[in-house]
Amino acid sequence: MKKKKALVFGITGQDGSYLAELLLNKNYLVYGVKRRTSLIHTTRIDHIYKDFHLKTNLILKYGDVTDFSNVFRLINEIKPDEIYNLAAQSNVGVSFELAEYTAQTDSIGTLRILEAIRIIDTKRKMKFYQASTSEIFGNSPDKPYNEKSKFEPVSPYGTAKLYSYWTTRNYRDAYSMFASNGILFNHESPRRGENFISRKVIIGIIKILKGHQKCLYLGNLKSKRDWGHAKEFVDAQWKILQYKFPDDFVIATGKNYSVKDLVNLVLKKLKIKFLWKKDKKGYEYAIAKNDIGQIKKSQIIIKQEKIYFRPNEVHNLVGDYRKATKLLKWKPKIKFDRLISEMIDSDLKNII
Ligand code: NAP
Ligand code: GDD
Repeated sequence: MKKKKALVFGITGQDGSYLAELLLNKNYLVYGVKRRTSLIHTTRIDHIYKDFHLKTNLILKYGDVTDFSNVFRLINEIKPDEIYNLAAQSNVGVSFELAEYTAQTDSIGTLRILEAIRIIDTKRKMKFYQASTSEIFGNSPDKPYNEKSKFEPVSPYGTAKLYSYWTTRNYRDAYSMFASNGILFNHESPRRGENFISRKVIIGIIKILKGHQKCLYLGNLKSKRDWGHAKEFVDAQWKILQYKFPDDFVIATGKNYSVKDLVNLVLKKLKIKFLWKKDKKGYEYAIAKNDIGQIKKSQIIIKQEKIYFRPNEVHNLVGDYRKATKLLKWKPKIKFDRLISEMIDSDLKNII
């Protein structure tokens, strides 16, 4: 039987690497788009090359969603059955500094892919997945958020992604394309980028424990997120494209925790006793209450620092994934506590 072909924009990222594994295990021929960088940055997918069966079905191509001729040529040459657009400047904090670039990638990048599909795939056979996000809900009032909730994004990233969400819907309706949005809430893993909060906290605290740094500097500790495991969330991405109709789905765990809960959990799991205090300006800091590893009792180990606060913040995200359970038979199994343990175990091995 002819293998299905998938084209993954953003294959070098956290989700791209798990999605590549999933598709290869389902016997797809996977084309992945990687960017030209001065240093090789395929570490998240390098392990695939150790397995002969998997490696022969993975083909990497240079590309960038800011380059229409490249996007068009790739889709025209490969003629994939499924296209996953995971490519994005995905850091919300950074999007305030790189607003125009974020729009070029996260908004117009999606438009370029959809336009290319519209022109090339006249028989409407290709399926398109857009990596949408809970950030499009922003600070909208009615929680938990579902597919009918109001959108109120509050960052350049959120607005750029909202453009892509609507463009995906419009192309579906206007041109009868199989174009779906997965509205995914935060999802983490040992492969999470190091400047997202879960990985930053885990790496930072392990480094303090091992004596590589003294203190970890953070921003807003009050915001809440609905954190799931990336491995389970890419399964939902694939299921969204296997559903009989193109549609939009919230993918979440339905439970949320504050950034401070996350920090407290990591400290507890690493057996560091601590006490939170506030300085004169109202910034919080945590001091160690025991000697452990290279940490000395009374050492300030966590401190809030102005530069890590964002100009605007999404305060509280929590999702209602019942539609995905009903129509896709998707349900998250991995709980927050287990996710964090897995990430800690992995980084304890990485950091010597
Ligand atoms: P990630 O680790 O930051 O990966 C992003 C990927 O996009 C990387 O492969 C990156 O390449 C690539 N990329 C960036 N700019 C590009 C461009 N101009 N052209 C082509 N590729 C480009 O993000 P992730 O966590 O895997 O998330 C995957 C997608 O889901 C993103 O679109 C993100 O916005 C969205 N999302 C993520 C979450 C989450 O919690 N993880 C939740 C909702 C939605 P490099 O490796 O070269 O940088
Ligand atoms: N990154 C970071 N660094 N975040 C911090 C820090 C810090 O030093 N200190 C506090 N935070 C807070 C942020 O202000 C935010 O409220 C929360 O930690 C989570 O931040 P991130 O891990 O950067 O994730 P995010 O929620 O902003 O965005 C992620 O999830 C979205 C889905 O809701 C990203 O993966 C997006 O791509 C994704 O769309």
